Amino acid sequence: MTYPIRPIDESEWTAFARVNEEAFGWTPHPQQAERYKAQTEFDRTLAAFDGDTIAGVTAVFSLTMTVPGRQLPVAGVTAVSVLASHRRRGVLSSLMRRQLNDIRERGESVAALYASESLIYGRYGYGRAASELSFTIDKHRSAFAPGAPQDPSLRLRVVVPAEVRGDLEKLFAAVVTRRPGRYERRPEFWDSVLADEEHDQRGNGPMRSIVAEDDHGVRGYALFRIKSSWDEAGIPNGTLKLQELEAADPAAYALLWRSVLDRDLVSKVETYGRPVDDPLIALLADTRQLRARWADELWVRLVEVDRALAERAYAAPVDVVIEVEDDVCPWNARRWRLTADLTGAECKPVDEEPDITLPVAALGSAYLGDGMLGEQFEAGLLREHSAGAVHRLATALSWSPKPWAGLTF
Ligand SMILES: CC(C)(COP(=O)(O)OP(=O)(O)OC[C@H]1O[C@@H](n2cnc3c(N)ncnc32)[C@H](O)[C@@H]1OP(=O)(O)O)[C@@H](O)C(=O)NCCC(=O)NCCS
Repeated sequence: MTYPIRPIDESEWTAFARVNEEAFGWTPHPQQAERYKAQTEFDRTLAAFDGDTIAGVTAVFSLTMTVPGRQLPVAGVTAVSVLASHRRRGVLSSLMRRQLNDIRERGESVAALYASESLIYGRYGYGRAASELSFTIDKHRSAFAPGAPQDPSLRLRVVVPAEVRGDLEKLFAAVVTRRPGRYERRPEFWDSVLADEEHDQRGNGPMRSIVAEDDHGVRGYALFRIKSSWDEAGIPNGTLKLQELEAADPAAYALLWRSVLDRDLVSKVETYGRPVDDPLIALLADTRQLRARWADELWVRLVEVDRALAERAYAAPVDVVIEVEDDVCPWNARRWRLTADLTGAECKPVDEEPDITLPVAALGSAYLGDGMLGEQFEAGLLREHSAGAVHRLATALSWSPKPWAGLTF
């Protein structure tokens, strides 16, 4: 059975949003739903119809994302949902195929998404491209290693987040290009980041903020909530739940972390999704105190392999013929010669013998620089025809710092 697919218009929003709510089993507060609607690009929505019923949906945010060496327009895939009554009938597969064609027509060479489950998107050519650590640190075991930077010109200021929104936006805009995976925030995204009604607080109290600044302005900020408590013996046992910590330089970064970790009446700091190479790891004297859980973060799909590969920078020179397997976007399925050095890259179709054969998802997973190719090669998932070719390609594609988006879309 096929279900006709088309974008929705604003009058169909309620039916579109209902599919999300049903599939995720979560109904947002009307204010949250309004914010989400304000973020929606209606011409980039897709709905699959069963008669008058919307059976499945997806949408795209037009993101400007940092990739190694530059920023690119990237399709941020979101709102993927199929009604329970229509699941496992191929609705998602037809939506994904249509969406990838639309993205290509629009001229974006890369798509990215956050997956609710890691089993879903590999079949559509998405590869696990970034990871995150969520960790808890015991405040009393959080001393910094010798040599942590200090800058006497820096001072801390307790602020109300909404009152310094302009400073936060400016600071974020200055750091967004530093790490692959980060993307520019439109005002509607900031509305969600700073949302602080009772239904946004999830029982953790109002959002609090502290900024690090000098005479020239704000150099970093932390956003967090505090769940205060005392144990049976009357000893303070609060938890600081960190939402964001961004800084323009290492001294501001260290000062903000110290402020968060030293908070009075708090016994531990919890974070939800930080970079796997968070500089905090290097700052802590006793790194094992960072009790961490690892998870996949961004998934990336190269919609046009040649353009995507030519559009990023490389960490080392490479000249390699790659045979790409891609059933979903057949225009990618051929041999490409990637030639790159530290000044630029070229990716051209060729008929030469390949050095490597790999599924397009493997290139997606390596695209932002996370070094996944080596892992996949060691796992026996890539075919190398010229000895050392995977290692050379993996080295050229790797990047520091490691990719991380930091804000679910
Ligand atoms: C995930 C979801 C969108 C899948 O939609 P669907 O229309 O049932 O998917 P399809 O029928 O097109 O499935 C295509 C293939 O993917 C597989 N698949 C789909 N969802 C899967 C899942 N969650 N886990 C494992 N495999 C899955 C199907 O078994 C099928 O495999 P096959 O081709 O080998 O038969 C739907 O189950 C859903 O809405 N889930 C809840 C919301 C959610 O998690 N959305 C994703 C947000 S990132």
